[in-house]
Amino acid sequence: MTRKNNTIFVACDTSSLPKIKKIIKLTKNSPLNIGYKFGLEFFNSKHGRSFISKLPKQHMVWLDLKLKDIPNTVSSSIHSLKDLTNVRYLTIHASGGMEMMQAAKQAAAKTNKKLKVLAVTVLTSFSEKSIKQTGHTKSIKKIVIQQASLAKKAKLDGIVCSGYEAKSIKTICKKMQIITPGIRLEGDLKGDQQRVMTPSQAFQNGATGIVIGRSITNGNIKKNIQKLIASLK
Ligand code: C5P
Repeated sequence: MTRKNNTIFVACDTSSLPKIKKIIKLTKNSPLNIGYKFGLEFFNSKHGRSFISKLPKQHMVWLDLKLKDIPNTVSSSIHSLKDLTNVRYLTIHASGGMEMMQAAKQAAAKTNKKLKVLAVTVLTSFSEKSIKQTGHTKSIKKIVIQQASLAKKAKLDGIVCSGYEAKSIKTICKKMQIITPGIRLEGDLKGDQQRVMTPSQAFQNGATGIVIGRSITNGNIKKNIQKLIASLK
């Protein structure tokens, strides 16, 4: 089983309010330490923002907005989340650079004392081939290490990276949270993800939390949660 503090963030990737309610209802009472991650799909939907604002604090709400812009704009965007006092985590792109990350951290501290800012490194949907297509010449691992080191200097609270980089990041960002998406239960399809692994592999590699979407929310949610629990034993 995972350690007590290891969190399983369920990616609530839908614009349908009834589907979100169903996901929460069927997962919240599991013995796992569950949190809920909302991306732009739901946040931008008609009822998204107001629904998120009413969720209880114990739901460990993560707003996965993946902000990346000039420092002033990112800072102002975070100030605009002031009313969402229940949000615990917010993502920004590490590739936005040092000044942007520092501005985001400062804005978060002023906006909501409990808000933790996480740096998203190379998305788990990238392969070595597709990252090179964007102009990078280094390997994904080297880029992730460089970005995570920068996020540490900017005093961010955590790093989002794939399970393949988690071990190296753990040695650099010892006191930071390391959260790993690209998680699939045994036998599930990768879909658009490239750097995937199972929940237990990610935890073994040092992840403090994992993000799991389609492997839980597609099909029978209760059965999927049981499969997840069994896989962690
Ligand atoms: O369905 P699946 O488990 O692939 O969903 C992964 C979730 O994690 C999505 O919400 C996606 O936006 C998010 N994510 C990711 N890779 C990152 C950061 C976040 O897949 N590097």
